[in-house]
Amino acid sequence: MTIKKVRTAILISGRGSNMQALADAARDDDYPAEIVLIASNRPDAAGLEWAKARGLPTLAIDHKNYANREAFEEALQNALASAKTELVALAGFMRLMTADFVEHWRDRMINIHPSLLPSFKGLHTHERALDAGVKIAGCTVHFVRPKMDEGPIIGQAAVPVLSGDDPDTLAARVLAAEHRLYPASLKLVTGGQVRVEGEKTVIFHNSNVSSPIYSPGL
Ligand code: GRF
Repeated sequence: MTIKKVRTAILISGRGSNMQALADAARDDDYPAEIVLIASNRPDAAGLEWAKARGLPTLAIDHKNYANREAFEEALQNALASAKTELVALAGFMRLMTADFVEHWRDRMINIHPSLLPSFKGLHTHERALDAGVKIAGCTVHFVRPKMDEGPIIGQAAVPVLSGDDPDTLAARVLAAEHRLYPASLKLVTGGQVRVEGEKTVIFHNSNVSSPIYSPGL
């Protein structure tokens, strides 16, 4: 049986390892999202090369070629419309977007952030988590709202902070979790298992995992 797939565009600015995780997951016939466009605001984004080599449709829309944010976003909207995009997944996309753009994609645009939101919004999350002395870190997939790193949370993954961690070792541990969380979250959203109620989500998913994560371990 062929399933109806949600036409999904991924926006990147750099390495694109989360984009790769999404694109790899979407190769499965039973996965409910189809990747119809990989777009980057940076023509030199390494992720674009990977996507091209995989035969995925790619597009560079260099924000420096546009007079202002609105003009850049108009070009982006046109590209998304041409690809008949139904859902946008941000994956390391480093441009702030206007409220108009975000509202246009309300509950149809998701993002991954490398912290357990609402803690550590913004940049340098791992440094700040270490400075704060937290013992558990992680990542969050959420619907995008005009305020940065806010919006209904779809899923989170937690990892321990280990003694001796520096921002790079912590980032690597969180990134490995991101690569599992993001495809799983996109699957829930495009599979119709997520409903937004107020500024929270209700997830329709049979999960009976209830074991706590201890850090330090017991
Ligand atoms: C990831 O840590 C993601 O959570 C954040 O930016 C980073 C992008 O990495 N939004 P990559 O380009 O997906 O490798």
